[in-house]
Amino acid sequence: MARILITSAIPYINGIKHLGNLIGSQLPADLFARYNRARGNEVLFLCATDEHGTPAELAAAKAGKPVAEYCAEMWAVQNDIAQGFRLSFDHFGRSSSPQNHRLTQHFAGRLAEAGLIEEVSEKQVYSIADGRFLPDRYIEGTCPNCGYDKARGDQCENCTKQLDPTDLINPRSAISGSTDLEVRDTKHLYLRQSALRDDLRAWIDSKTDWPILTTSIARKWLDDGDGLQDRGITRDLDWGIPVKKGDQPWPGMEGKVFYVWFDAPIEYIACAAEWVDAGNGPGSEQGWERWWRRDKGADDVRYVQFMGKDNVPFHTLSFPATILGSGEPWKLVDYIKSFNYLNYDGGQFSTSQGRGVFMDQALSILPADYWRWWLLSHAPETSDSEFTWEAFQQDVNKDLADVLGNFVSRITKFCRAKFGEAVPGAGAYGPQETALIADLQARLDRYQAHMEAIEIRKAAAELRAIWVAGNEYLQSAGPWTVFKDDPDRAAAITRFALNLIPFYAALSAPFIPDAAATMAGAMGADLSWPTSAQDGVAGIAPRPWL
Ligand code: 2FM
Ligand code: ZN
Repeated sequence: MARILITSAIPYINGIKHLGNLIGSQLPADLFARYNRARGNEVLFLCATDEHGTPAELAAAKAGKPVAEYCAEMWAVQNDIAQGFRLSFDHFGRSSSPQNHRLTQHFAGRLAEAGLIEEVSEKQVYSIADGRFLPDRYIEGTCPNCGYDKARGDQCENCTKQLDPTDLINPRSAISGSTDLEVRDTKHLYLRQSALRDDLRAWIDSKTDWPILTTSIARKWLDDGDGLQDRGITRDLDWGIPVKKGDQPWPGMEGKVFYVWFDAPIEYIACAAEWVDAGNGPGSEQGWERWWRRDKGADDVRYVQFMGKDNVPFHTLSFPATILGSGEPWKLVDYIKSFNYLNYDGGQFSTSQGRGVFMDQALSILPADYWRWWLLSHAPETSDSEFTWEAFQQDVNKDLADVLGNFVSRITKFCRAKFGEAVPGAGAYGPQETALIADLQARLDRYQAHMEAIEIRKAAAELRAIWVAGNEYLQSAGPWTVFKDDPDRAAAITRFALNLIPFYAALSAPFIPDAAATMAGAMGADLSWPTSAQDGVAGIAPRPWL
């Protein structure tokens, strides 16, 4: 049994996420977690809310609430919605947790001891109208790299370039819109990630099996000599993790907090500790350290991260710099699955502009499985993909209703009409069934290979083909015609087709868990993964009512 640690990029606390966010990290991570659990692997699947920094402060101010109260409320909202989408996190944590405070301060202390932190006097943008510094998202303007006019002070979401607030052209305050800004001196801690450039390059070079999207973004940052500039890891903000060296004060840094992008990935580790502290696992430090510390057993763990492409630089360079720079045996990620963007009807999904379909709206319209199936089968893996209502309606109707639903409905109705409530036992299987089993075996092998490789669209296409094969079998075997002359043969066809239902349910469960549970439950079967197509279609044969 393998041990798999899975993390999804942790969503900002600042509101309900849209479907583009969902398919960019949480949903594919859930697919992979469900698949691995079904294959009998030991899985720890973690996600959390990203609660610090300017996104949280700005959203709380807009909601007119103290930021701690706002975060607690929004965590509960995001948690409910995650459950609605059946996201099977082992723990949904919070980056504001005491565990993350401790670990973030611990890492900062270790990095300082290793000589990788520098105190820098720098110039920051100060808003006269707002009476404060404007770090990161508190400032907006035009991206110097691509000309996008809503770039934020920390990153341009259009071209993914990491920015400093002073880089922006025509800057304005995101709080008041004021352009009455000046540059003032302040002191911050910088992580000397450039000192780790060679180590990071060697590490990225060793990842020959990673998706091109991931490695190309990482290499671009390494090669440009741009992404590995030493970066400030502290901010002049009230809300966040106070700057400390381990549990010791950091002279000169009083009143400052760590940068959200410094503490957010450390939450992946803290989340495992939160999970144990909430009463899970063996209930000791060892419980979470066996997932995270190579000296405590984590060398046996395969660690897979899921994220959108804008998050890749932080996960391929900044967070690994924290881990490597600590000089402690923390686990580094083994595989990063990254995604392009899902666009909405000819433009971008946008939280700030309320454009697109948001997770709560989606669940209020249709069951989670519909969304899960469509989003996963159109995952933006090799390029951006596009959500349109027409495509969504057409694909869901075709795949779930016309293919899978139609198959289950036709054969169960036929059985009920001709043979009653019991699976008919008469008749023998023949060449058609043998041929279908061989076809299904080849497809099962391919489906599993795609799931192992996290090739989501290919896996979805193979699963759809597996459903289609059942429909075609039913069509060509035609039990409703055969029944007149040879009821026993019709019984055998019916039995075989009914046996496909639990087989389909097990294979489909990672994509559409609710429908899969209903299908398996209706057949009195469980969702155990078939060891082969032969076993799969024999799944309900030995039951007493056969
Ligand atoms: O882009 C985002 O939504 C960020 N909140 C992702 C953070 S992932 C991490 F590093 F924790
Ligand atoms: Zn840009």
